[in-house]
Amino acid sequence: MSALSDILRREIRQCGPIPFARFMDRALYCPELGYYDRFANTVGRAGDYFTSVSVGPLFGELLARQFADWLAAVPGEPRHLVEAGAHDGQLAHDLLAWLQRNRPDVWNRLEYWVLEPSTRRQQWQRQKLAEFAPQVRWLDAWERVAERAVRGVIFSNELLDAMPVHRLGWDATAQRWFEWGVGLEGDRFVWRRILDRREQAPASAPGGTAEVPSSTASLALTGLPAELLAVLPDGFTTEVCPQAVAWWTQAASRLGAGRLLTFDYGLRGEEFLTPERSEGTLRAYRAHRLCRDVLADPGAQDLTAHVNFSALQAAGEAAGLSTEGCWPQGVFLTRVVQTDPTASAISTPAQARQFQTLTHPEQLGARFRVLVQSRAEERASHSSIDSTG
Ligand SMILES: C[S@@+](CC[C@H](N)C(=O)[O-])C[C@H]1O[C@@H](n2cnc3c(N)ncnc32)[C@H](O)[C@@H]1O
Repeated sequence: MSALSDILRREIRQCGPIPFARFMDRALYCPELGYYDRFANTVGRAGDYFTSVSVGPLFGELLARQFADWLAAVPGEPRHLVEAGAHDGQLAHDLLAWLQRNRPDVWNRLEYWVLEPSTRRQQWQRQKLAEFAPQVRWLDAWERVAERAVRGVIFSNELLDAMPVHRLGWDATAQRWFEWGVGLEGDRFVWRRILDRREQAPASAPGGTAEVPSSTASLALTGLPAELLAVLPDGFTTEVCPQAVAWWTQAASRLGAGRLLTFDYGLRGEEFLTPERSEGTLRAYRAHRLCRDVLADPGAQDLTAHVNFSALQAAGEAAGLSTEGCWPQGVFLTRVVQTDPTASAISTPAQARQFQTLTHPEQLGARFRVLVQSRAEERASHSSIDSTG
């Protein structure tokens, strides 16, 4: 029995069923025991899952080509490339190596920031990026960055799908969402419906009326059309990720000029509520196999759920960003290659193979999408930089 399982059991015995988001947070991020703190080599052939980065250096090289053009269009210096979810630092390495070799104009004015809350993962990244040390800086949270301080590009690959989700079920009789939590049957983790205060209080008790709000997470699903809710079957299950939306809002508020983008597997909001997704999108991976029991062995398997791109888009727009598009990864990367004036992006058989894997709709090309938002330079701040520069 693992130490992390024991910690979670103790918490459940003390407090009762815990929201799944709490379980997922501990399973992935408990210092030293959580999945992402224990293993550096979770990605790639020897790990539990592939990412675009583990396909080879081409993904980073294509991003570097695109980012270089975007960075060159941002006036002033330094210009920033900010990566979150850098994990073992491989994508940063691929990007920086390409920029150093090919774009001295951008390289000489570049600061690369890695946003990384875990000290252990920061260590892995520092080792991997040692040769680029003068150019790289680490930050553990957005709170360390002033509003509008980033001038350049903020990006991530498979970050937001790894943030803890709340799992919600639809109660067709009561016509409202309830939250799935994690309880215990003996020593085994099992799904338990979390009763909100309205359900726990007897109707006759003071305050035990419909005035009491339902769980905070389910508020993320309010405002759905009544016609949709009328046909949603009892027990329909889905996830919401307020943490991802909050993260995106913070990132957007730090962007002074440039682009904010993320690559991930995900859906538009309405795509979550289709009959084929009645069990939601939450899943676990281990050694490249989908594991049926997401509650088994916390800390030993990856947990992930689809990103809601509509929710991110709305959060970015509320923070003043413009949406440039949300494209399949294959479309985005193909455009980078097609608009490359040197026509040198794919020149070896290895690069051609990687490109096929990254862009083919039956491989990573359609499953992954990229949401790109931007903030144009504000006239006032632009001229003040020009006059001091
Ligand atoms: C699926 S891995 C992504 C790996 C890598 N980007 C790649 O493409 O191979 C997700 C990473 O995001 C990190 N992460 C989760 N929450 C984070 C946060 N709030 N800020 C920065 N990184 C975070 C995890 O620890 C993990 O290293």
